[in-house]
Amino acid sequence: MNTDAPLTLLGGLTPQTFMKKYWQRKPLLVRQAIPGFRPPLSVSDVRQLVRREEVESRLIWQDGSGWNMKRGPFSRLPAMKKPNWTVLAQNTDAHHDGMAELLHRFRFIADARLDDAMISVASDQGGVGPHFDSYDVFLLQAHGQRHWRISTQKDLSLHDNLPLRILRNFQAEEEYILEPGDMLYLPPHVAHDGIAMGDCMTISIGFRAPTLAVLARGVLEAAGDQLMARIGEDPGLYGERPGPGPRLDARYRDRGAPATETPALLPDALINAALDAAQRVTLTEGLAARFLGQWLTEPSPAAWFEPQENAPDFHAGLPKQGFLILDRCTRMMYRGKELYINGELADIGPGAALRALANDRRLDCRGRLARTLNQAELDTLNDWHAEGWLHYRSQ
Ligand code: SIN
Ligand code: CO
Repeated sequence: MNTDAPLTLLGGLTPQTFMKKYWQRKPLLVRQAIPGFRPPLSVSDVRQLVRREEVESRLIWQDGSGWNMKRGPFSRLPAMKKPNWTVLAQNTDAHHDGMAELLHRFRFIADARLDDAMISVASDQGGVGPHFDSYDVFLLQAHGQRHWRISTQKDLSLHDNLPLRILRNFQAEEEYILEPGDMLYLPPHVAHDGIAMGDCMTISIGFRAPTLAVLARGVLEAAGDQLMARIGEDPGLYGERPGPGPRLDARYRDRGAPATETPALLPDALINAALDAAQRVTLTEGLAARFLGQWLTEPSPAAWFEPQENAPDFHAGLPKQGFLILDRCTRMMYRGKELYINGELADIGPGAALRALANDRRLDCRGRLARTLNQAELDTLNDWHAEGWLHYRSQ
Protein backbone atom coordinates (compact mmCIF):
# COMPACT_ATOMS: atom_id res chain seq x y z
CA MET A 1 0.00 0.00 0.00
CA ASN A 2 1.31 3.45 -0.90
CA THR A 3 0.91 5.21 2.43
CA ASP A 4 1.39 8.64 0.79
CA ALA A 5 -1.62 8.26 -1.52
CA PRO A 6 -4.99 9.73 -0.45
CA LEU A 7 -7.43 7.05 0.66
CA THR A 8 -11.20 7.32 0.27
CA LEU A 9 -11.43 5.08 3.35
CA LEU A 10 -9.83 7.92 5.32
CA GLY A 11 -11.86 10.69 3.71
CA GLY A 12 -9.06 11.57 1.28
CA LEU A 13 -6.32 11.70 3.92
CA THR A 14 -3.19 9.73 3.22
CA PRO A 15 -2.51 6.94 5.73
CA GLN A 16 0.61 8.89 6.78
CA THR A 17 -1.43 12.02 7.56
CA PHE A 18 -4.11 10.02 9.34
CA MET A 19 -1.48 8.34 11.53
CA LYS A 20 0.21 11.64 12.28
CA LYS A 21 -2.86 13.75 12.99
CA TYR A 22 -5.62 11.40 14.21
CA TRP A 23 -4.38 7.96 15.25
CA GLN A 24 -4.50 7.77 19.05
CA ARG A 25 -5.17 11.52 19.13
CA LYS A 26 -8.65 12.55 18.03
CA PRO A 27 -11.88 11.26 16.46
CA LEU A 28 -12.42 11.41 12.71
CA LEU A 29 -15.76 11.16 10.95
CA VAL A 30 -15.53 9.97 7.37
CA ARG A 31 -18.65 10.26 5.22
CA GLN A 32 -18.75 7.51 2.56
CA ALA A 33 -15.48 5.91 3.59
CA ILE A 34 -16.66 3.00 1.43
CA PRO A 35 -19.04 4.49 -1.16
CA GLY A 36 -21.99 2.22 -1.95
CA PHE A 37 -20.85 -0.14 0.81
CA ARG A 38 -22.48 -3.53 0.83
CA PRO A 39 -21.37 -5.51 3.87
CA PRO A 40 -19.95 -8.99 3.25
CA LEU A 41 -22.53 -10.39 5.69
CA SER A 42 -26.19 -9.39 5.80
CA VAL A 43 -28.30 -8.96 8.93
CA SER A 44 -29.76 -12.43 8.42
CA ASP A 45 -26.23 -13.91 7.87
CA VAL A 46 -25.25 -12.47 11.26
CA ARG A 47 -28.37 -13.92 12.87
CA GLN A 48 -27.23 -17.29 11.48
CA LEU A 49 -23.60 -16.75 12.51
CA VAL A 50 -24.45 -16.26 16.19
CA ARG A 51 -26.17 -19.66 16.24
CA ARG A 52 -22.75 -21.27 15.88
CA GLU A 53 -20.94 -22.59 18.94
CA GLU A 54 -17.50 -21.43 17.73
CA VAL A 55 -18.63 -17.81 17.23
CA GLU A 56 -18.16 -15.63 20.30
CA SER A 57 -21.35 -13.61 20.66
CA ARG A 58 -23.32 -11.55 23.17
CA LEU A 59 -26.89 -10.34 23.31
CA ILE A 60 -27.52 -7.04 25.07
CA TRP A 61 -30.91 -5.62 25.80
CA GLN A 62 -32.57 -3.04 27.98
CA ASP A 63 -35.87 -3.57 29.73
CA GLY A 64 -37.72 -2.27 32.78
CA SER A 65 -35.03 -3.79 35.03
CA GLY A 66 -32.17 -2.02 33.15
CA TRP A 67 -29.26 -3.50 31.18
CA ASN A 68 -29.00 -7.23 30.49
CA MET A 69 -26.33 -9.34 28.82
CA LYS A 70 -26.23 -12.97 27.77
CA ARG A 71 -23.50 -14.93 25.99
CA GLY A 72 -24.20 -16.95 22.83
CA PRO A 73 -24.64 -19.13 20.90
CA PHE A 74 -28.22 -18.06 20.20
CA SER A 75 -30.52 -20.50 18.47
CA ARG A 76 -33.21 -17.80 18.62
CA LEU A 77 -32.89 -14.05 18.68
CA PRO A 78 -35.65 -11.52 19.36
CA ALA A 79 -37.53 -10.37 16.25
CA MET A 80 -36.15 -7.29 14.48
CA LYS A 81 -39.43 -5.48 15.16
CA LYS A 82 -38.93 -5.85 18.90
CA PRO A 83 -36.95 -2.70 19.88
CA ASN A 84 -33.97 -2.21 22.15
CA TRP A 85 -31.66 -5.17 21.67
CA THR A 86 -28.33 -5.75 20.00
CA VAL A 87 -26.28 -8.84 19.25
CA LEU A 88 -22.51 -8.69 18.85
CA ALA A 89 -20.36 -11.23 17.01
CA GLN A 90 -16.61 -11.13 17.66
CA ASN A 91 -13.74 -12.22 15.34
CA THR A 92 -15.95 -12.34 12.26
CA ASP A 93 -12.82 -12.07 10.08
CA ALA A 94 -11.89 -15.58 11.25
CA HIS A 95 -15.23 -16.90 10.02
CA HIS A 96 -15.69 -15.17 6.67
CA ASP A 97 -13.28 -14.24 3.86
CA GLY A 98 -15.15 -11.03 3.02
CA MET A 99 -14.85 -9.82 6.62
CA ALA A 100 -11.12 -10.66 6.63
CA GLU A 101 -10.70 -8.65 3.41
CA LEU A 102 -12.49 -5.73 5.02
CA LEU A 103 -10.17 -5.89 8.04
CA HIS A 104 -7.19 -5.97 5.69
CA ARG A 105 -8.15 -2.59 4.21
CA PHE A 106 -6.76 -1.23 7.48
CA ARG A 107 -3.31 -2.73 7.00
CA PHE A 108 -1.72 0.70 6.82
CA ILE A 109 -1.50 -0.12 10.54
CA ALA A 110 0.81 -3.01 11.49
CA ASP A 111 -0.76 -6.47 11.72
CA ALA A 112 0.72 -6.59 15.21
CA ARG A 113 -1.87 -3.96 16.22
CA LEU A 114 -4.90 -5.21 14.30
CA ASP A 115 -7.29 -7.32 16.33
CA ASP A 116 -10.60 -8.28 14.79
CA ALA A 117 -13.73 -7.22 12.96
CA MET A 118 -16.74 -7.32 15.25
CA ILE A 119 -20.29 -6.99 13.92
CA SER A 120 -23.26 -5.68 15.84
CA VAL A 121 -26.83 -6.07 14.67
CA ALA A 122 -29.41 -4.01 16.51
CA SER A 123 -33.11 -3.42 16.40
CA ASP A 124 -34.52 0.09 16.69
CA GLN A 125 -33.09 1.91 19.77
CA GLY A 126 -30.59 -0.93 20.38
CA GLY A 127 -27.05 -0.22 21.57
CA VAL A 128 -24.53 -1.14 24.22
CA GLY A 129 -24.93 2.07 26.21
CA PRO A 130 -22.54 4.99 26.77
CA HIS A 131 -19.06 3.62 27.41
CA PHE A 132 -15.41 3.96 26.47
CA ASP A 133 -12.98 1.42 25.07
CA SER A 134 -9.30 1.02 25.89
CA TYR A 135 -8.51 0.44 22.23
CA ASP A 136 -8.77 2.39 19.00
CA VAL A 137 -11.76 1.50 16.86
CA PHE A 138 -13.12 2.25 13.40
CA LEU A 139 -16.93 2.07 13.49
CA LEU A 140 -18.16 1.40 9.99
CA GLN A 141 -21.88 1.70 9.38
CA ALA A 142 -22.94 -1.35 7.40
CA HIS A 143 -26.73 -1.27 7.27
CA GLY A 144 -29.40 1.20 8.41
CA GLN A 145 -28.59 4.27 10.46
CA ARG A 146 -26.95 4.75 13.83
CA HIS A 147 -27.00 7.88 15.95
CA TRP A 148 -23.57 8.30 17.53
CA ARG A 149 -22.85 10.71 20.34
CA ILE A 150 -19.26 11.11 21.48
CA SER A 151 -17.39 12.92 24.22
CA THR A 152 -13.79 13.53 25.25
CA GLN A 153 -14.91 13.93 28.88
CA LYS A 154 -12.40 13.22 31.61
CA ASP A 155 -14.91 11.58 33.95
CA LEU A 156 -14.81 7.92 32.91
CA SER A 157 -16.38 6.51 36.08
CA LEU A 158 -18.66 3.53 35.51
CA HIS A 159 -21.89 2.35 37.06
CA ASP A 160 -21.39 -0.40 39.64
CA ASN A 161 -22.94 -3.83 39.44
CA LEU A 162 -24.03 -3.79 35.80
CA PRO A 163 -23.33 -6.61 33.35
CA LEU A 164 -21.89 -3.96 30.98
CA ARG A 165 -19.44 -1.11 31.35
CA ILE A 166 -21.77 1.90 31.32
CA LEU A 167 -20.57 5.43 32.03
CA ARG A 168 -22.10 7.06 35.06
CA ASN A 169 -22.18 10.60 33.63
CA PHE A 170 -22.11 10.67 29.86
CA GLN A 171 -22.04 14.23 28.49
CA ALA A 172 -22.22 14.15 24.70
CA GLU A 173 -20.16 16.83 22.95
CA GLU A 174 -20.78 15.90 19.33
CA GLU A 175 -23.30 13.78 17.50
CA TYR A 176 -23.63 12.31 14.06
CA ILE A 177 -26.03 10.08 12.19
CA LEU A 178 -24.09 7.48 10.24
CA GLU A 179 -25.43 6.01 7.00
CA PRO A 180 -24.13 2.84 5.33
CA GLY A 181 -20.53 3.39 4.21
CA ASP A 182 -19.88 6.17 6.75
CA MET A 183 -17.20 5.56 9.36
CA LEU A 184 -16.22 7.02 12.72
CA TYR A 185 -12.69 6.57 14.08
CA LEU A 186 -12.30 6.83 17.85
CA PRO A 187 -9.05 6.76 19.80
CA PRO A 188 -8.97 4.93 23.15
CA HIS A 189 -10.96 6.47 26.02
CA VAL A 190 -13.24 8.66 23.91
CA ALA A 191 -16.69 8.10 25.40
CA HIS A 192 -19.35 7.04 22.89
CA ASP A 193 -22.94 5.88 22.61
CA GLY A 194 -24.41 4.55 19.39
CA ILE A 195 -28.15 4.06 19.14
CA ALA A 196 -29.77 2.21 16.25
CA MET A 197 -32.37 4.14 14.24
CA GLY A 198 -34.36 1.20 12.93
CA ASP A 199 -32.65 -2.08 11.95
CA CYS A 200 -28.95 -1.45 12.09
CA MET A 201 -25.62 -3.15 11.53
CA THR A 202 -22.23 -1.71 12.50
CA ILE A 203 -18.80 -3.22 11.94
CA SER A 204 -16.07 -2.39 14.47
CA ILE A 205 -12.50 -2.75 13.33
CA GLY A 206 -10.69 -3.24 16.61
CA PHE A 207 -7.06 -3.12 17.68
CA ARG A 208 -4.98 -4.80 20.31
CA ALA A 209 -2.80 -2.95 22.76
CA PRO A 210 -1.25 -5.09 25.48
CA THR A 211 -0.35 -3.48 28.79
CA LEU A 212 3.33 -2.74 29.24
CA ALA A 213 3.32 -5.26 32.11
CA VAL A 214 2.24 -8.00 29.70
CA LEU A 215 4.99 -6.98 27.28
CA ALA A 216 7.58 -7.05 30.05
CA ARG A 217 6.42 -10.46 31.27
CA GLY A 218 6.62 -11.81 27.71
CA VAL A 219 10.21 -10.68 27.23
CA LEU A 220 11.20 -12.04 30.64
CA GLU A 221 9.55 -15.36 29.87
CA ALA A 222 11.28 -15.50 26.49
CA ALA A 223 14.58 -14.84 28.25
CA GLY A 224 13.83 -17.67 30.69
CA ASP A 225 12.89 -20.09 27.91
CA GLN A 226 15.99 -19.28 25.90
CA LEU A 227 18.18 -19.58 28.95
CA MET A 228 17.00 -23.06 29.81
CA ALA A 229 16.80 -24.34 26.23
CA ARG A 230 20.26 -23.17 25.20
CA ILE A 231 22.27 -23.28 28.39
CA GLY A 232 25.75 -24.59 27.69
CA GLU A 233 25.77 -23.16 24.16
CA ASP A 234 27.33 -19.85 23.17
CA PRO A 235 26.20 -17.47 25.98
CA GLY A 236 25.50 -14.75 23.40
CA LEU A 237 22.67 -16.90 22.08
CA TYR A 238 20.70 -16.69 25.25
CA GLY A 239 21.61 -13.17 26.14
CA GLU A 240 24.25 -13.72 28.83
CA ARG A 241 26.12 -10.51 29.40
CA PRO A 242 29.85 -11.22 29.03
CA GLY A 243 32.01 -10.37 31.98
CA PRO A 244 33.86 -11.72 34.94
CA GLY A 245 32.32 -14.35 37.17
CA PRO A 246 31.03 -17.84 36.47
CA ARG A 247 29.00 -18.50 33.35
CA LEU A 248 25.31 -19.12 33.84
CA ASP A 249 25.72 -22.81 33.14
CA ALA A 250 28.10 -23.11 36.11
CA ARG A 251 26.59 -24.49 39.32
CA TYR A 252 26.13 -22.59 42.56
CA ARG A 253 28.98 -23.13 45.03
CA ASP A 254 29.24 -22.26 48.70
CA ARG A 255 32.66 -23.37 49.68
CA GLY A 256 33.43 -21.80 53.11
CA ALA A 257 29.79 -21.43 54.13
CA PRO A 258 29.40 -21.39 57.93
CA ALA A 259 27.54 -24.12 59.80
CA THR A 260 23.98 -22.99 60.50
CA GLU A 261 21.85 -23.02 63.62
CA THR A 262 18.78 -21.98 61.62
CA PRO A 263 18.59 -24.58 58.84
CA ALA A 264 15.17 -23.34 57.65
CA LEU A 265 16.51 -19.84 56.88
CA LEU A 266 17.29 -19.15 53.21
CA PRO A 267 21.00 -18.31 52.94
CA ASP A 268 21.90 -14.75 51.87
CA ALA A 269 24.62 -16.08 49.60
CA LEU A 270 22.09 -18.08 47.59
CA ILE A 271 19.80 -15.07 47.29
CA ASN A 272 22.67 -12.90 46.11
CA ALA A 273 23.85 -15.53 43.63
CA ALA A 274 20.32 -15.74 42.14
CA LEU A 275 20.13 -11.95 41.81
CA ASP A 276 23.61 -11.68 40.31
CA ALA A 277 22.81 -14.40 37.79
CA ALA A 278 19.52 -12.76 36.78
CA GLN A 279 21.31 -9.45 36.32
CA ARG A 280 23.70 -11.07 33.90
CA VAL A 281 20.88 -11.92 31.52
CA THR A 282 20.70 -9.25 28.83
CA LEU A 283 17.29 -8.49 27.37
CA THR A 284 18.01 -8.18 23.68
CA GLU A 285 15.95 -6.96 20.75
CA GLY A 286 16.08 -10.53 19.49
CA LEU A 287 14.36 -11.82 22.63
CA ALA A 288 11.61 -9.21 22.38
CA ALA A 289 11.10 -10.01 18.68
CA ARG A 290 10.96 -13.75 19.37
CA PHE A 291 8.32 -13.28 22.07
CA LEU A 292 6.23 -10.78 20.09
CA GLY A 293 6.48 -12.68 16.82
CA GLN A 294 5.28 -15.93 18.31
CA TRP A 295 2.69 -14.39 20.58
CA LEU A 296 1.14 -11.98 18.07
CA THR A 297 0.89 -14.58 15.33
CA GLU A 298 -0.96 -17.03 17.55
CA PRO A 299 -4.20 -17.71 15.68
CA SER A 300 -7.33 -16.22 17.20
CA PRO A 301 -9.34 -18.68 19.33
CA ALA A 302 -11.92 -18.62 16.52
CA ALA A 303 -9.42 -19.75 13.88
CA TRP A 304 -9.90 -23.03 12.06
CA PHE A 305 -7.56 -24.45 9.42
CA GLU A 306 -8.73 -27.18 7.10
CA PRO A 307 -5.83 -29.57 6.35
CA GLN A 308 -5.65 -30.04 2.58
CA GLU A 309 -5.29 -33.50 1.13
CA ASN A 310 -4.45 -34.13 -2.53
CA ALA A 311 -2.72 -30.76 -2.48
CA PRO A 312 -0.51 -29.71 -5.39
CA ASP A 313 3.12 -30.53 -4.65
CA PHE A 314 5.41 -27.51 -4.39
CA HIS A 315 8.63 -29.44 -3.66
CA ALA A 316 9.88 -29.10 -7.23
CA GLY A 317 8.65 -25.50 -7.63
CA LEU A 318 5.44 -23.50 -7.59
CA PRO A 319 2.91 -23.94 -10.39
CA LYS A 320 3.69 -21.76 -13.45
CA GLN A 321 0.72 -19.49 -12.84
CA GLY A 322 -1.78 -18.54 -10.15
CA PHE A 323 -1.26 -17.29 -6.59
CA LEU A 324 -0.48 -18.51 -3.13
CA ILE A 325 -2.89 -16.85 -0.72
CA LEU A 326 -2.66 -16.88 3.07
CA ASP A 327 -5.70 -18.37 4.75
CA ARG A 328 -7.88 -15.69 6.36
CA CYS A 329 -6.89 -17.06 9.80
CA THR A 330 -3.14 -17.17 9.14
CA ARG A 331 -1.02 -14.64 10.96
CA MET A 332 2.47 -14.15 9.58
CA MET A 333 5.12 -11.63 10.65
CA TYR A 334 8.86 -11.29 10.43
CA ARG A 335 11.73 -9.39 11.93
CA GLY A 336 15.46 -9.60 11.19
CA LYS A 337 16.32 -13.18 10.36
CA GLU A 338 13.19 -14.67 11.90
CA LEU A 339 9.84 -15.55 10.43
CA TYR A 340 6.80 -16.23 12.62
CA ILE A 341 3.63 -17.90 11.49
CA ASN A 342 0.59 -19.00 13.48
CA GLY A 343 2.43 -18.89 16.79
CA GLU A 344 5.53 -20.70 15.57
CA LEU A 345 9.06 -19.66 14.74
CA ALA A 346 9.52 -20.93 11.17
CA ASP A 347 12.65 -22.96 10.53
CA ILE A 348 13.40 -20.83 7.48
CA GLY A 349 14.17 -17.12 7.44
CA PRO A 350 12.12 -14.35 5.79
CA GLY A 351 13.56 -14.31 2.27
CA ALA A 352 12.22 -11.69 -0.14
CA ALA A 353 9.44 -13.93 -1.50
CA LEU A 354 8.22 -14.82 2.01
CA ARG A 355 8.31 -11.20 3.12
CA ALA A 356 6.13 -10.37 0.12
CA LEU A 357 3.76 -13.20 1.02
CA ALA A 358 3.51 -11.88 4.58
CA ASN A 359 2.98 -8.24 3.53
CA ASP A 360 0.66 -8.81 0.57
CA ARG A 361 -0.92 -12.02 1.94
CA ARG A 362 -0.42 -13.42 -1.54
CA LEU A 363 2.39 -14.37 -3.86
CA ASP A 364 2.15 -14.33 -7.64
CA CYS A 365 3.52 -17.67 -8.85
CA ARG A 366 4.56 -16.05 -12.15
CA GLY A 367 6.39 -13.20 -10.46
CA ARG A 368 10.11 -12.67 -10.14
CA LEU A 369 10.06 -13.31 -6.39
CA ALA A 370 8.45 -16.74 -6.74
CA ARG A 371 11.45 -17.81 -8.82
CA THR A 372 13.82 -16.93 -5.99
CA LEU A 373 12.34 -19.55 -3.64
CA ASN A 374 14.95 -22.09 -2.55
CA GLN A 375 14.36 -25.75 -1.74
CA ALA A 376 13.88 -25.22 2.02
CA GLU A 377 11.34 -22.45 1.33
CA LEU A 378 9.43 -24.59 -1.18
CA ASP A 379 9.35 -27.51 1.27
CA THR A 380 8.02 -25.21 3.98
CA LEU A 381 5.36 -23.72 1.68
CA ASN A 382 4.31 -27.27 0.91
CA ASP A 383 3.89 -28.01 4.64
CA TRP A 384 1.93 -24.80 5.25
CA HIS A 385 -0.29 -25.62 2.30
CA ALA A 386 -0.98 -29.11 3.62
CA GLU A 387 -1.85 -27.60 7.02
CA GLY A 388 -4.37 -25.27 5.38
CA TRP A 389 -2.35 -22.18 6.37
CA LEU A 390 -2.23 -21.07 2.76
CA HIS A 391 -4.08 -21.91 -0.43
CA TYR A 392 -3.27 -22.10 -4.10
CA ARG A 393 -5.58 -20.27 -6.52
CA SER A 394 -5.07 -20.92 -10.22
CA GLN A 395 -6.18 -17.32 -10.97
C1 SIN B 1 -21.83 -1.44 18.62
O1 SIN B 1 -21.51 -1.74 17.46
O2 SIN B 1 -23.00 -1.40 18.98
C2 SIN B 1 -20.82 -1.09 19.66
C3 SIN B 1 -19.48 -0.79 19.16
C4 SIN B 1 -18.71 0.08 20.13
O3 SIN B 1 -19.26 0.96 20.73
O4 SIN B 1 -17.49 -0.08 20.30
CO1 CO C 1 -17.21 1.04 22.00
